[in-house]
Amino acid sequence: MNENITIFDTTLRDGEQSPGATMNLREKIRLARQLESLGVDIIEAGFPAASNGDFEAVRAIAAEIKGCQVAGLCRAMPSDIDRAWEAIRHGAEPRLHTFIATSDIHMQYKLHKNEEQVLAMVQQAVSHAASLTSNVEFSAEDASRSRPEFLARVVELAISCGARVINIPDTVGYAQPQEFGALITYLLQHVPGSGQAVFSVHCHNDLGLAVANTLAALRAGARQAEVTLCGIGERAGNAALEELIMALDVRSDIYNLTTSIKKEQLYPSCRLLSMILGQPIPASKAVIGDNAFAHESGIHQDGILKHRQTYEIMTPEHIGRTTTDMVLGKHSGRHALKECLEGLGYRLSEANLDTVFAAFKKLADRKKEVVREDLEAVVLEEIFRLPDKYRLIYLSTMSGNMAIPTAVVKMEIDGEERQLAGFGEGPIDCIFNAISHLVEKQPELLRYSVNAITGGSDALGEVMVKLGQGEKTSVGRASDPDVLIASAKAYINALNRLAKKEEEERVCGRP
Ligand code: KIV
Ligand code: ZN
Repeated sequence: MNENITIFDTTLRDGEQSPGATMNLREKIRLARQLESLGVDIIEAGFPAASNGDFEAVRAIAAEIKGCQVAGLCRAMPSDIDRAWEAIRHGAEPRLHTFIATSDIHMQYKLHKNEEQVLAMVQQAVSHAASLTSNVEFSAEDASRSRPEFLARVVELAISCGARVINIPDTVGYAQPQEFGALITYLLQHVPGSGQAVFSVHCHNDLGLAVANTLAALRAGARQAEVTLCGIGERAGNAALEELIMALDVRSDIYNLTTSIKKEQLYPSCRLLSMILGQPIPASKAVIGDNAFAHESGIHQDGILKHRQTYEIMTPEHIGRTTTDMVLGKHSGRHALKECLEGLGYRLSEANLDTVFAAFKKLADRKKEVVREDLEAVVLEEIFRLPDKYRLIYLSTMSGNMAIPTAVVKMEIDGEERQLAGFGEGPIDCIFNAISHLVEKQPELLRYSVNAITGGSDALGEVMVKLGQGEKTSVGRASDPDVLIASAKAYINALNRLAKKEEEERVCGRP
């Protein structure tokens, strides 16, 4: 008989801890809504005690999301737990997720605590959390490098104090599948009262084994998997939600496990995350990469034409990667646009719909067919953007093999218009030089990439720019049929994000 497992998504918490993955409040809420449509059971919305910004984001998500549980992470300290509870308590089914490290190396060097002291903290924290809600999850950080006998004592104590979910993280991605599966078996068999809790796993991908370790743990009896979209997360990331779901689906003959995930929402969810972060999905990424369903060699193409399953173990349609059936053009009206947006999961206010409609009309004038990806880009650009300190008003460039590359840029900076011409090695260099002179900042350009969102020479160019200034980095993105305009907008977007970080630091005092 098939058993159901719980999918705990931590894209908005562990995922957001990955470099360049910072999201603003509106982007977080949009992603949370998409996770709800995807069918995850729990959304870990953030770490409320980390900053006022995190607290507000978790509170807003808990208030907005009613179709699944919302969790807040907190260290095993009453003050952290109270702060997390304050943020989530008005949610539909709030979950407190408290953690402490249990490996010798973490206890000695990070916590400066011995085993007995850690046990005392577990007792105090879990009992306190359980006095606030029955929905308590406890994580033993660095569990895979902890002494198994001590880990078993910690887990037993956490369950006896009221934890109903016990999470076993492979925090540094050190475990190997067989070993990790055996650890779960050991805990299930040796911890008195293990039957009163659901065992969960949270695997990092430092050795590329996060999904394999998660699957091994599920086979051993874990019944909750902690995952992120596209596998984003600390360092090399976490187990990728889409890979886990498709492994369970394609090899259901081995696993016999079901989830409530709507598989046709997998690609749209990963795509939305990629657009929000301005990080293109790598072409060879399992399940969702552009090459995942591309067949290049003659032998493979021949096989596919004769019988798809010769070289395909799943179809693009399975994961919601349809060559779009929804095409709008310049004659499409506001009503058609509204329907399409609703189909994509965007419930916009009338004012926001007006804004998107105006931008859509402008785009449709320049581009024959406006497809799903174009529309998503327009919505993200127009609605989920940060209120801007800097705005592009005008851009004109000159380049070629017989011209000195020049860019003339006009911008609005804090409400005031300024204009400047810039020179450089090529048009992009000129544009970035002119903008940085106008805003009087000289950030380092850490990354620049251009990606065609859809096929065809009139495709929207999606540009991602990563800037660094001192300790801070920011990622900006923008799309436009003209890649030079998209580049200027992405650069300005990154500058706006840097300015926003400086502002947050000033107000909230968070480094
Ligand atoms: O990797 C980890 O151990 C974590 C815990 C806080 C669950 O993210
Ligand atoms: Zn983690």
